Amino acid sequence: MSITIDERLDDPAAARAEGRRKMDWAEAHMPILSELRDSFAAAEPLAGERIAMAMHVEAKTAVLVELLAVGGADVSIAGCNPLSTQDDVSAALHAVDGVTSYAAHGVDTDEYYDAIEAVVGVDPTITVDDGADMVTHIHDEHPDLIPQLKGGCEETTTGVHRLRSMADDGALEYPVFAVNDTPMKTLFDNVHGTGESVLTNIAMTTNLSIAGKTVVVAGYGYCGRGVAKKAAGMNADVIVAEVDPRRALEAHMEGHDVMPITEAASEGDVFVTTTGNRDVITREDFERMADGALLANAGHFDVEINLEQLGELATSHREVREGVEEYELPDGRRLNVLAEGRLVNLAGPLSMGHPVEVMDQSFGIQAVCVRELAANAETYGAGVHDVPDRLDRDVAEVKLAAEGIAIDDLSDEQREYMDSWDHGT
Ligand code: NAI
Repeated sequence: MSITIDERLDDPAAARAEGRRKMDWAEAHMPILSELRDSFAAAEPLAGERIAMAMHVEAKTAVLVELLAVGGADVSIAGCNPLSTQDDVSAALHAVDGVTSYAAHGVDTDEYYDAIEAVVGVDPTITVDDGADMVTHIHDEHPDLIPQLKGGCEETTTGVHRLRSMADDGALEYPVFAVNDTPMKTLFDNVHGTGESVLTNIAMTTNLSIAGKTVVVAGYGYCGRGVAKKAAGMNADVIVAEVDPRRALEAHMEGHDVMPITEAASEGDVFVTTTGNRDVITREDFERMADGALLANAGHFDVEINLEQLGELATSHREVREGVEEYELPDGRRLNVLAEGRLVNLAGPLSMGHPVEVMDQSFGIQAVCVRELAANAETYGAGVHDVPDRLDRDVAEVKLAAEGIAIDDLSDEQREYMDSWDHGT
């Protein structure tokens, strides 16, 4: 049985005040959500909707949740990672009219799923997920709710992968927007957001430099290329490990060294996994790593660095600094795991997730997708759907205007030329 955040805190009022301060700072730097807030407040496009959410509960997410409530929805929220919730923000959200927060920091597995179960109590018409735990929970435990669900939105790559697998098996029974895959999200959040915030958090958690180190990036997808680019920009040498030949070639052409992870193991000072896959760094890699190596994961689940094998290999382990667990190996080498192998930019002691501006874009897309489901649910059948291009463009235009950037328009002649096939030399 889950309890709300207020029931967990000694001084919810003080937490609320601090959480609200963080939300106000974030909102002041989120022009897309601010503009949407005006239109949501005026038109209440979500009146009558009940939204069940599982997301990283920190200030930017809270601004999104408040926006959905301002739009007329009842919103209930749980965390999507045991370590990424900021309790003060959760408390501030819980105080917003129409919002109930069950998200808390440092929950165990049972408490984590109890909170997701409690959120379902809102009797949802729409779901918003980061990692697809809410969608899968509803399909597994509450299939009776499926007929009333207009649809859902999914924030991250791993969640979209899970949903596509469900859809391939014929098991996904309501429509879900792949928010992750739309250009306004993935080209900015996954690349720049992850790149900046992962390296910033490694540096802040350890107080060690990135410059002069060899950073091994496992996975050269959107997140991996962001981490690799920013690490190179911070004067690190970068090695990329990949399994997809085209992405490995891309990394090579971008000027990074490319080699198998086991070879990179003996070269690296810092290791960052960004694959969304399991067992990317394993025993044979730990056996080759240099004393003092730093290991961090940026993928959604804590399965990329095999900590079970590292634990078996180690003679002892201890917390050497908040957020840094040192594993000592029989020959005296020490390997340092950050944030318990959970996504380092959200689950570390100082983590705040992506920069605000980036999440303004991701959550702008989330908000317009929720509005689209409320207005036009009948347009979308069960399955995974791309975000409609017009919505993605609209959000981009708001952002450009906020940045004071003007762009060109196609002339009628150019538009006609681009749409025709009967022109040549
Ligand atoms: P992506 O699909 O673009 O890239 C993943 C890459 O990893 C692919 O190129 C794939 O070939 C490679 N890969 C898979 N298994 C591998 C292995 N064993 N060794 C080496 N490479 C391997 O996915 P994207 O968008 O980069 O996301 C990656 C992960 O990061 C996902 O779990 C996603 O949910 C998560 N994510 C985390 C964020 C954060 O804030 N930390 C933000 C956005 C996404």
